[in-house]
Amino acid sequence: MAERRFRVIVCRGPECGDKRDSRSIHAAFVAQIDARGVGHRCELDWQSCFGRCSQGPNVLVRELPAAVQAPRRFALADLPPSRGGGPRLATALYNRLDPVKVVEVVASHVVQGTVVGRFIERPDALVKPPGEPDV
Ligand code: FES
Repeated sequence: MAERRFRVIVCRGPECGDKRDSRSIHAAFVAQIDARGVGHRCELDWQSCFGRCSQGPNVLVRELPAAVQAPRRFALADLPPSRGGGPRLATALYNRLDPVKVVEVVASHVVQGTVVGRFIERPDALVKPPGEPDV
């Protein structure tokens, strides 16, 4: 069975990047991905904005479909997941991340494929934290 692969996309938009220092989040992912030795199966990238600015810094961790490899013998298990079927890919948009939370996201989501649900907010739960200005 192929190793699970992930793509981590850190928002660098005006709210996440300029006001909430998503650069430190990106740096924490670089360090954790390196420390856990998963760089060969985890891509790290930037995004300009996810449209969830008031809940930032936001980071999308997306599991990538397994690459189709040339099987020695054809088997249904070798087929990539079809639309509406196949294994569910572990994908989540994390909100209000900080470098401490990044440690757990990498350990759980990237290493084990388990989403960290408590770092995810509902899109309609746009309640600003105390002291935060309106976006
Ligand atoms: S600036 Fe990050 S979601 Fe908009």
